[in-house]
Amino acid sequence: MTNSMAHEIRALLRERNAILLAHNYQRPEIQDIADLTGDSLELSIKAAKTDADVILFCGVRFMAETASIVSPDKRVLIPRLDAGCPMADMITPEALKARRAELGGISVVTYVNSSASVKAESTICCTSANAVAVVNSLAEDEIFMTPDRNLCQYAASKSTKKIHCWDGYCPIHDRLSAEEVLHAKAMHPEALFMAHPECRPEVLALADAALSTSGMISFAKASEKESFIVGTEEGLIYPLQKANPDKSFYKASEYMVCEDMKRTTLGDVLRSITAMTHEVKVSEKVRIPAARAVERMLEITAR
Ligand code: 13P
Ligand code: SF4
Repeated sequence: MTNSMAHEIRALLRERNAILLAHNYQRPEIQDIADLTGDSLELSIKAAKTDADVILFCGVRFMAETASIVSPDKRVLIPRLDAGCPMADMITPEALKARRAELGGISVVTYVNSSASVKAESTICCTSANAVAVVNSLAEDEIFMTPDRNLCQYAASKSTKKIHCWDGYCPIHDRLSAEEVLHAKAMHPEALFMAHPECRPEVLALADAALSTSGMISFAKASEKESFIVGTEEGLIYPLQKANPDKSFYKASEYMVCEDMKRTTLGDVLRSITAMTHEVKVSEKVRIPAARAVERMLEITAR
């Protein structure tokens, strides 16, 4: 059943000149049929470079919006409109503008895990992989960072700048406790602990490396170590294991499951590519300033 559905999806993708993107947290059967897997920004940038007419994004809404921001001439589809991100929803453009005004109009660094309209109100974007470089690239000594307080505190710990943090957080990463990590370390004393910068400061203090999801895959590959404790959403274990069949990966906690990332099923993907739904299109009024914030970040990363 799953196999025939996968074949049907692949045939329709070819017919419609569409590319299927899957975030590293998606269900294994979706990652297996994707043209590209990776972190959200990496996927959007790679998709923009292809000649596909359609991008089918298996992830959450802000990721499909980012694809639309960088590929305005492509049609971007998301199989589940209800796949959102609680952290992205913790800030609105109006709230950002109000807080920025209170802070005297200083530069705003916004994590790519945010809505297009919040990006549009920001000076520059960042990812979990380049947040420190982005913060340090700005001329000002005082910065406002949104929406993730944990990524913000992490960047502040690696910079001499004064950084004001918006009080948002990823409920999945924020729930990982230092106690759970210490327990996992006691169970697997030989393993390195990799943590996502969306985790709390006390968890990051226990980490051997703070990395984005794709960063964890390359770190594990390059490392001489054989086993790793993984401090991020559980979906990453699948691509980690696939890329490193001889290594062992242990969850730091049993509770790091993002329901939004798990909403999309193969059936949803089939319905989406059959009916060409649901289109995600960022208006030009929002897209132009949002694209500027993303491009500024890319210029810094390319340096
Ligand atoms: P990255 O894959 O960019 O590290 O993001 C993690 C995440 O929480 C995505 O929702
Ligand atoms: Fe949002 Fe966290 Fe889920 Fe990523 S894992 S989509 S940041 S809630």
